Amino acid sequence: MEATARAYTNIALIKYWGKRDEQLFLPMNSSLSITLDQFYTTTSVQFCTCLSADIFILNGQLASEQETVKISRFMSLLRDLSGKKLYAVIDSTNKVPTAAGFASSASGYAALAAAGTKALGMDSDDQTLSKIARQGSGSACRSIYGGYVEWQKGDKEDGTDSYAHQILEAQDWNLSILSVLLVPEPKEVLSREGMKRTVETSPFYAGWLDTVEVDLNTAKSALQQRDFEMLGNVLEGNALKMHATTLGANPPFMYWTSATLDVMQQVKELRATGIQAYFTIDAGPNVKVLCQPKDEQIVQEKLKDIPAVQDVYLCHPGPGITYLPQSKKKNCC
Ligand code: DP6
Repeated sequence: MEATARAYTNIALIKYWGKRDEQLFLPMNSSLSITLDQFYTTTSVQFCTCLSADIFILNGQLASEQETVKISRFMSLLRDLSGKKLYAVIDSTNKVPTAAGFASSASGYAALAAAGTKALGMDSDDQTLSKIARQGSGSACRSIYGGYVEWQKGDKEDGTDSYAHQILEAQDWNLSILSVLLVPEPKEVLSREGMKRTVETSPFYAGWLDTVEVDLNTAKSALQQRDFEMLGNVLEGNALKMHATTLGANPPFMYWTSATLDVMQQVKELRATGIQAYFTIDAGPNVKVLCQPKDEQIVQEKLKDIPAVQDVYLCHPGPGITYLPQSKKKNCC
């Protein structure tokens, strides 16, 4: 009873920001993302009758108790769904700078949902996998699919209509996404806590909800028309609005550092010279810059020239879940 799956991270163009149900991970708004081809998580799940608890190995090391408790909660969801009361060894490796705002929780829970259900013989389709992955981390529901993906928020209380679906395949529109690494450190306010505080206390959150649906529709039209300028303008504006809500929270918080602003400034300067580049930022200081492949080299060079920039990773739209052959490694009897 073993399976291995790989899932790629995604970057939100229209952000998921705020939950209407924290237990089921139901969002306040629908969102839109691109699955990236460079950052991923590979996870093997091996269920065994010899185990009396889940064991979680992260990047080759036994994970902390806190991390294991989180994973085990998710594994219990799989146990409930399959009716099999078995524990597992979960061996997960990230090719992502973990917790640097590069969304390893999205690829992590998407890979775990896929490997875990397969190991239990559940034979789940992508929509079911998306609903399961969502309950580990909301954005994980989008990483089941490759390319351009929408997570429809759904309206039902039980969450059965809250899942992602693909809008365009990766090869339908090749854009360049430059992931700019500023500070490879864990974030101060995790996205989960940040969105909760914002929903509960920020007077600006109502403004977010008022316009996010319009932004989503504009972004979807831009995707259909392959209109990069239209997409860029709406994704940049949407990211700024999301971050504006954090300033109104109580206590207020901010994910940006001065280095974040340096990158934003460089992007604006590139645009002033006629190069179409647009930024977006998730729940951390790092910035992702979108441009067209014809401009990716110059944009990458300009970003690398910023003193506060540690590295710039060039990504393109990537694949959805892939299953890998069984690992030879034996983690239990
Ligand atoms: C800012 O999916 O990490 O990256 O559901 O609580 O695990 P939880 O949150 P998470 O939040 C992602 C927030 C975001 C925007 C996005 O990816 O849409």
